[in-house]
Amino acid sequence: QTEISRVRNLETIQMGPYEIEPWYFSPYPAEFTDCDVVYICEFCLGYFGDKLQFGRHRKKCTLTHPPGNEIYRDSNVSFFEIDGRRQRTWCRNLCLLSKLFLDHKTLYYDVDPFLFYCMTARTEHGHHLVGYFSKEKECAEGFNVACILTLPQYQRKGYGGLLIQFSYELSKIEGKLGSPEKPLSDLGLLGYRAYWQEVIVDLLLEREAENPGSSAGISVEDLAQTLAMTTNDVLHTLQNLNMLRYYNKNHVIVLTDAVVLQREQRKEKEKVKGKRVIEPEKLLWKPPV
Ligand code: COA
Ligand code: NA
Repeated sequence: QTEISRVRNLETIQMGPYEIEPWYFSPYPAEFTDCDVVYICEFCLGYFGDKLQFGRHRKKCTLTHPPGNEIYRDSNVSFFEIDGRRQRTWCRNLCLLSKLFLDHKTLYYDVDPFLFYCMTARTEHGHHLVGYFSKEKECAEGFNVACILTLPQYQRKGYGGLLIQFSYELSKIEGKLGSPEKPLSDLGLLGYRAYWQEVIVDLLLEREAENPGSSAGISVEDLAQTLAMTTNDVLHTLQNLNMLRYYNKNHVIVLTDAVVLQREQRKEKEKVKGKRVIEPEKLLWKPPV
């Protein structure tokens, strides 16, 4: 029984102009398993097994953006904050959709305890969902992200890095050190490692440029506070990069030639590809009370 229910159950979904093949099982109603294509409304995330029915829905659907407050906007993207309790149907639809691309995690269909930070790209038709992360309203373990997803049609374009950066910008405003909920998926780990390495190395290079030789005097705690990362995540990242030495039982951070070179090579790539970043001054947000 449980084996069967875990098998991928939808053949193809269509969202806007994109046809996407789901990766994993998601508990859509059983009758959708027999559909060749499941049509998903880009704006309300409602689902339809029949093209005509979907067409009729699109004529009636009045949403042009996720149903929450726009708390961030730059020339590329916006972020909307959505309360799971106030927008239960929309958030449940979002969880159903994202489960198609998330295997390892128990997704909570009780959406009430979560806030959803949804990133969109604008066209003349509206704000199209690109990705999101969810966050527990009160998280005893201090996680700043529960689930995180870039929709497959937008992956590998730098949007995941934006979602991750945004989650840490919220933690900075809260004055907390954040970390994503474990376990991370393989892709989640790749995305986070890339982000952690980049922000740590960039901060060290910045300090070094201001004051040559100073990076050796920076502590793990200082990095953690500045980046709103847990000291554990900072330590692990430095260890992975082979940047920690021990003198008299103290950690000393070493910017190795290999790390500097790797960062320079990535910067060259960014110049060609273009680099997306969140501009913190455009984030208009206070921690919900
Ligand atoms: N293979 C290798 N490296 C990858 C990768 C892949 N498939 N996907 C991301 N990375 C690493 C790369 O270093 C990449 O930088 P680069 O493209 O310049 O090399 C970096 O992560 C950032 O990638 P980015 O384009 O910003 O990420 P994304 O928009 O593709 O989103 C996830 C990353 C994790 C959000 C996305 O893969 C996803 O939604 N996966 C499915 C859901 C999931 O597993 N979520 C995590 C649950 S814990
Ligand atoms: Na990423």
